[in-house]
Amino acid sequence: MDMTTAIIDHTLCKDVRRCFENQTYAIPARWLYDRRGSELFEAITELPEYYPTRTETDLLKANGPAFAALVGPKRAVIEFGSGSSVKTPHLLKAIDPAAYVPIDISGEFLEHSALLLQAEFPDLPIYPVEADFMKRVALPEAVADMPKLGFFPGSTIGNMIARTSVDLLRFMRETLGEGAQLLIGFDRIKDIKTLVDAYDDASGVTAQFSLNLLHRINRELDGNIPCEKFRHLAVWNDLYARIEIYLEAQADIQFSIDGHPHEMAEGQKIHIENSHKYGLRDARLMLRAGGWTPLHEWSDEQDYFTLMLVEAHPYKYAP
Ligand code: AVI
Repeated sequence: MDMTTAIIDHTLCKDVRRCFENQTYAIPARWLYDRRGSELFEAITELPEYYPTRTETDLLKANGPAFAALVGPKRAVIEFGSGSSVKTPHLLKAIDPAAYVPIDISGEFLEHSALLLQAEFPDLPIYPVEADFMKRVALPEAVADMPKLGFFPGSTIGNMIARTSVDLLRFMRETLGEGAQLLIGFDRIKDIKTLVDAYDDASGVTAQFSLNLLHRINRELDGNIPCEKFRHLAVWNDLYARIEIYLEAQADIQFSIDGHPHEMAEGQKIHIENSHKYGLRDARLMLRAGGWTPLHEWSDEQDYFTLMLVEAHPYKYAP
C-alpha cells in the first residue's frame, strides 16, 4: 500500500490537524503506508511473531483444488488493495481465471506489480485500476460480462471499525454485482500473548513502522516532533476484540507542525491503528450485513486465520 503525493498533502495535513488542534489524538492508519511504511510492513510480514501472512499464504497454497471446485473456471479476479500482489499467484494458479483486475490507490505500485504478474502469467489479461476501493469502483469494460471473484486477503478488513467494514462489503457487492463471489481473509481471536506479540515484536520492526508516521509528519508537513520521545504500544481491547496501537509520549514535549505549536504531556497517547480479530460467527454476521452469503471456510490447524468464500445472492425479504 502506498499513496500518491497529491492525496497525501491535502488529507494527511487535515488528519494531522484534527489530531493535534482538535485534540482527538488519533490519526487514521492509512497514513502509515508511505514508501518507508510500506517497506516496513513488508518486513513485518516476515517476522516470526507475525503469523497472519504465512498462515494465510499456507491456506492459499494448500486449498487450490477446493477453490477451483467452488469457484469454477473463467472468472475475472478482482483484487481490492492489491499492493504488491504477493498472495495472488497462488489463487490464480488454482482457479484458471479469465482476467485479473488489481485495484490500488497507488498507480506506481500497481503498474509494477502488474508487470511482475504478467511475466508469471503471460496469457492472462491483466487490467490494473487505480482507484480508492473504499467506494464503488468502475471495472474495465473488458470484464463486464465475466463472472467475478473478489479477492481481499490479509485481514485488511480488520483495520476498519465494524461500520466501515460493512460499508466496504456493500461497495464491493455493488462493484462486483449479483452472483459474484468474494474470497476474504479474517484474523481470528486467539490467546492474548500471541496477538500482542504479533504487534510488538522483539526486534522492534513494528515499533519502527508506527514511529515512521511521526517521521513522515516531520518530513512532509514541516514538523519537529521529537520522535525518540515516543514509544510504540500494542494493547488488546477485549470489548472491541481488537489490538489497538498507540504512540505514547515518554515526557512532556513541545513541537510544531507547519508553524503551529503543540504540546503533549508525559503518558499521553496518539491512537494510530486498530486491528480487529474475529470469531467465525462474528465474521459471518458482518459479511451477511454487507450483503454476502457464506459458502465455505478454510482455517489452519490452530484456528489462527480463516479464508471465507462468500457469494452475492439476490436480496430476499424473508421473515
Ligand atoms: C495490513 N494489516 C492487515 C496489518 C494488521 O495486521 O492489522 C497492519 C499491521 N500493523 C502492524 N502490524 C501489522
